[in-house]
Amino acid sequence: MNIPKIAQYREMLSKYLKPQRSRVLILAVLLFGSIGLQLVSPQILRFFIDTAVQSGTQPYLTPTLPYPYQPDTTQDQLLLAAIIFILVALFQQGVSIVAVYFSENVGWTATNMLRADLAMHCMKLDMSFHHVRTPGEMIERVDTDVTQIANFFSQFVIMVLANILLLVGVLVLLFREHAVVGLVMAGFALLTMWALNKVRSYAIPAWAASREASAQFYGFLEEQLSGTEDTRASGAVPYTLRNFYRLLYDRLKSEQHAGMMNVTILSVIVMCVTVGTILSFILGFALNQTGLVTIGTVFMFVTYTNMLFRPMREITIQIQELQKAGAGIGRVYELLNIETKIPEGPGKPIPSGALTVDFDDVTFSYNNDETVLKNFDFHLQPGRVIGLLGRTGSGKTTISRLLFRLYDVKHGTIRLGGTDIRDATIRDLRQRVGIVTQDVQLFRASVRDNLTFFDPSIPDERILEALDDLGLSGWLDSLPEGLDSRLRSGGSGLSAGEAQLLAFTRVFLKDPGLVILDEASSRLDPVTEQRIERAIDKLLHNRTGIIIAHRLATVQRADEIMIIDKGTITEHDDRVKLASDPNSHFYHLLRTGLEEALA
Ligand SMILES: Nc1ncnc2c1ncn2[C@@H]1O[C@H](COP(=O)(O)OP(=O)(O)OP(=O)(O)O)[C@@H](O)[C@H]1O
Ligand SMILES: [Mg+2]
Repeated sequence: MNIPKIAQYREMLSKYLKPQRSRVLILAVLLFGSIGLQLVSPQILRFFIDTAVQSGTQPYLTPTLPYPYQPDTTQDQLLLAAIIFILVALFQQGVSIVAVYFSENVGWTATNMLRADLAMHCMKLDMSFHHVRTPGEMIERVDTDVTQIANFFSQFVIMVLANILLLVGVLVLLFREHAVVGLVMAGFALLTMWALNKVRSYAIPAWAASREASAQFYGFLEEQLSGTEDTRASGAVPYTLRNFYRLLYDRLKSEQHAGMMNVTILSVIVMCVTVGTILSFILGFALNQTGLVTIGTVFMFVTYTNMLFRPMREITIQIQELQKAGAGIGRVYELLNIETKIPEGPGKPIPSGALTVDFDDVTFSYNNDETVLKNFDFHLQPGRVIGLLGRTGSGKTTISRLLFRLYDVKHGTIRLGGTDIRDATIRDLRQRVGIVTQDVQLFRASVRDNLTFFDPSIPDERILEALDDLGLSGWLDSLPEGLDSRLRSGGSGLSAGEAQLLAFTRVFLKDPGLVILDEASSRLDPVTEQRIERAIDKLLHNRTGIIIAHRLATVQRADEIMIIDKGTITEHDDRVKLASDPNSHFYHLLRTGLEEALA
């Protein structure tokens, strides 16, 4: 487990609590106030008991009493004490309620800021990070771990301080009453704290293990749910269920262990409370017998002794919470410390207009063992369109990922408009390159939001213009509510072709200087195919284009053809030239049928 350093706790507190200073201050005042009130109540109780006992043992109409109206006064005093007691209790409850409100508020605000920071950080991490983590695991990191830290933000420091104050307050009050009682109870409190600390230290690894088991479980669940169709189709259901049970069993085991630890801590506390109460009764009894203290004071001793355990338990709970938070903070820092392998560039501009593309001796592998692109070297003039052909797994998609800097090359340089893409800012680069991938990601939102990526500054006119330019007005009209039509998550309800059309529009709105088209190999119906052809025409107009083609029609629009095999360029030349050269691979591809050859 990654145990956080004190400096990291402090950094967390100052970063996420400083912006809500005033609320934290109010919370502190409320919590301290509530503790002050707790200290007062036993004093009122003693007064009540002693007054009652006195008036009971000394009949109030004895001639020795100087005031004839005393009976009324005693009753009045009792009544007053009772009212004050109730008022203090009520007020204390009120203060606690408001304090809970503030502490939830502070906790949620702080953790939401942290969640946002983490989500942002993850977004900036390169794809090699995301490929090895399941979405379920990411949810655990960004949400569940942070939830564990909530208490640390909203209460920890104040509660620990306030309860130490309560502890010391009770001891001082006991000491003031009788030094022996104060000393005995202080010793006892120390002993209890030591015992609690001892059992607590055994609980830490148990907690971490239970968190880990739950992360594993959710990661598995998410993966299986998203692959449910394949799982069923391939008859892997029993296998999946077996894993499911195994992970659940692991989780049960670790939760049981963690739960046992909690119960142990709780029983130690209960035991200490019992022993403490007995001690205070014995001490009180002895002192009362020798006439040193009143019955009311004995009662007060017992109440204070019981009160002593409340802060001790609270401090232990807070420290338990701190351990949970510690595990959370450890993981949060672990995540925050992962640096993206795609460092931000110094901000060299990429020229406007159609871009030249240069691959200078580029070599790349995803995970250092298998080289996916080997000494890739090609140059594309602005405004030209190159068609990439190659069998599945030959590295075509990889080229587009490199151009978008989802990964960085291992060796060599990629330049756009003469600028090394590592020298431009990532934002700038991604603004200048438009990609339509094989599977288009659509969100559960309106068509408008899916096109603008939730950017409200893009006016409807521009969207409509883009759709019109791409020849998609007719398609938009066929949607029931036009731009307001809701898409379902993952774009279900849209055909693959329609999803591609939306992706074209996205790119068109961005107005990039280079368009990369990773064509879906799925077959399209003739109407959609026609629309797509028209849209591609518009999209490539006055732009440089790299198209990964699976269909003859798309290949025909390329100025140049590049054939890739196992990560190397086997052929690259003018399309017309290659098509008429019987010795070229492309020539044969066209003869044998492109679609079949590239399948
Ligand atoms: N994220 C990844 N991690 C590791 N290896 C990968 C990753 N993505 C692709 N590869 C490997 O890199 C090679 C090239 O893959 P790429 O996706 O570029 O092929 P492609 O030419 O686009 O294929 P297709 O025509 O099927 O889309 C393949 O061997 C593939 O297994
Ligand atoms: Mg591909």
